[in-house]
Amino acid sequence: MLSAASRSLRHGVSARSVAVLSQVRTKMTPAEALKTIESEQKKCDDALQALMKSKGDSFTFADAKDLFANDKELSAAVAKIRELDMDIEWSWSRMQSLHQSLTKPPLKVALTGAAGAIGYAMLFRIASGEMFGPTQPVQLSLLDLPAAQDALKGVMMELNDCAFPLLKGLTASASPETAFEGADYAVLVGAKPRGPGMERADLMAANAQIFSVQGKALNKVAKGAKVTVVGNPANTNSLIASANAPDMSPDQFTSMMRLDQSRAEHQLAAKAGVDVSAVQRLVVWGNHSASQYPDISHATINGKWAKDVVKDEAWLKNEFVPTVAKRGAEIIEARGASSAASAANAAVAHVRDWATGSEGRWVTMGVPSSDAYGIGPGIWYGVPVVCYPGGDYKRVGGLSIDPYSAEMMEKTRLELLEERDAVKDLLP
Ligand code: NAD
Ligand code: LMR
Repeated sequence: MLSAASRSLRHGVSARSVAVLSQVRTKMTPAEALKTIESEQKKCDDALQALMKSKGDSFTFADAKDLFANDKELSAAVAKIRELDMDIEWSWSRMQSLHQSLTKPPLKVALTGAAGAIGYAMLFRIASGEMFGPTQPVQLSLLDLPAAQDALKGVMMELNDCAFPLLKGLTASASPETAFEGADYAVLVGAKPRGPGMERADLMAANAQIFSVQGKALNKVAKGAKVTVVGNPANTNSLIASANAPDMSPDQFTSMMRLDQSRAEHQLAAKAGVDVSAVQRLVVWGNHSASQYPDISHATINGKWAKDVVKDEAWLKNEFVPTVAKRGAEIIEARGASSAASAANAAVAHVRDWATGSEGRWVTMGVPSSDAYGIGPGIWYGVPVVCYPGGDYKRVGGLSIDPYSAEMMEKTRLELLEERDAVKDLLP
């Protein structure tokens, strides 16, 4: 319980008026007490509504704060209300999010493999606003195989039971064309995961066809979609999907390398004994496979070159790189199933940054390769990019590549070319 003196300090009301109000309150029921501030509440509500109306979509909580701080009558009304309603700040922010979620049109997000492990770990985070922000409504369109439709019904019941204010639509289907219709974003997770002892490329026979079918469906019904491929082998599946979507730009297709990036960030931060947020500009070049090259040559730790902080070349080459590159297999060995929650987390982060911007930070995405860094076109290769709000990304160019890095980057490039050859029948 706050003392009258500290409350008066917090709210700028004189100690005398606090004492008077406290006396008044003890003699009244809560309903009677609230009546005493009825006209002040109406004054504030009316002013807030008028401000929101005049500002439209540009309205922010800061606008409301300014208005109430600068208008004498309103700040006096607020001071009186606060004596009885300590939660007024919360009420304002709630009104703000309500207003915005009602006015922004929802984004349609299609998720494949929605009844699977990664899908289950992602859906609730998308619906709660983690992927597109707390004021962006979404419509979720779930795709899975016919045999998984019952499981999907259960997932939908759970989503509905969360009563997410941002979830404005929820549908399920076993048909890619139905599920993708009009999608703004599509996250292609649905595919077979590998088991112990397998490489991701061993999944090609089972999974490649899925991405050919889904590429065609996207091309037909969701030409504007931004597509993130998670199902393995993710880079080559992106190539297949894009090749089967001739009316869409290859830049609309990305493969997820974000899990590799976060794995590398964690390993480096742990070695340096710093928080992960101190690590920046870490790059994971190439394929989401054991040949990937997690590269710290350009990375910084608290603004200093990571190499100068770590000063351990042997650790970098013999421990850091293989640990990150083989982390997926290590998890399968330990869990008996492939990573799911961390993969879902990476997918949320990948799409979030793509859609809302990475604020200048480098993030690794598998994107259509270019001539930069001697890679050449025709494969989906992990490179650092910076994302801009609205779904634009730019590759980070002009980095100097040392001989060890060049060798590692070439190795993973050659593997991607081999994978491309293996699926050439699916590349029209
Ligand atoms: P899971 O087996 O738990 O779920 C896969 C789901 O996809 C199932 O519900 C299945 O019915 C569905 N599915 C299969 N074929 C489909 C199709 N043609 N259309 C729609 N849905 C289909 O597997 P999971 O753990 O969720 O993993 C999914 C994929 O993601 C795997 O290929 C896995 O290797 C990959 N993965 C990639 C990364 C990455 O970093 N890129 C990380 C982890 C997992
Ligand atoms: C991962 O990196 O965890 C996933 O790609 C799953 C796998 O097969 O390793």
